[in-house]
Amino acid sequence: MTIPIKNKAGIAGMRAACAVAATVLEQLKPLVRPGVTTQDLEEVARDAMARLGARSACFGYQHGPKRYPAHTCISVNDEVVHGIPSFRRVLREGDIVSLDIVVWHQGYIGDNAFTVPVGPVSDEVQKLLRITREALDLGIRAAQVGQRIGDISATIQQYVESHGFSVVRDMVGHGVGVSMHEPPEIPNFGRRGTGDKIKPGMTLAIEPMVNAGGYRTKTLADGWTVVTADGSPSAHFEHTVLTTERGPEILTVPPTVPPPGSS
Ligand code: MF3
Ligand code: CO
Repeated sequence: MTIPIKNKAGIAGMRAACAVAATVLEQLKPLVRPGVTTQDLEEVARDAMARLGARSACFGYQHGPKRYPAHTCISVNDEVVHGIPSFRRVLREGDIVSLDIVVWHQGYIGDNAFTVPVGPVSDEVQKLLRITREALDLGIRAAQVGQRIGDISATIQQYVESHGFSVVRDMVGHGVGVSMHEPPEIPNFGRRGTGDKIKPGMTLAIEPMVNAGGYRTKTLADGWTVVTADGSPSAHFEHTVLTTERGPEILTVPPTVPPPGSS
């Protein structure tokens, strides 16, 4: 499958959708504290998307026979991705919470994720968050026109493994645009010089998922929640990035002037 190249209108549409995705994510971060439930965060995000003229790209998302039942994915501790918000999940000090926000706005999709600590966390977990975040930054920097997708993958894998953590194999980053998952796949593992060549106008969701222990995962009986097989904590950071001749540009940043409806 060939990788879609966005024209001027496509890029403008992606900018707007990604700004909304980033605004919603930014609104959730400060609400993450002990005693809050993941359902509380879900409801804030759902309402924020509506106010910003967007819809969740996750709600009703079909995977096999199942439809995803919530507007956000909120994954705690050993949950890697696709955690379903619940009023039974009460956050406690020392937890880590991955917030994954994917919005659909005027025909375009913005995708971003961030892992937030709940109060003070252990040194090991703090390091997990830092390394995963830095792996994302390095992966984005590798997304240079003329390089290949495998250069992003290898950069992330090398950095993560050199710090004693592991990259998840069962889920990958992806192109994003008029649908949530477009070509190419962007694994967080691989070899330099392999995969498709990066050209200007690609919009890529780069998203390292990093486990403190082994890379293996399993899916819970709810059919969605992916957890680490060994119970170790897992972190997830994601940006949607536009490739340009001048280098990669992160699209999922909140606009300096907040969009109407954001407060
Ligand atoms: N960012 C996730 C992904 O790219 C969002 C999935 S939404 C869900 O797969 F519906 F699958 F949960
Ligand atoms: Co994604």
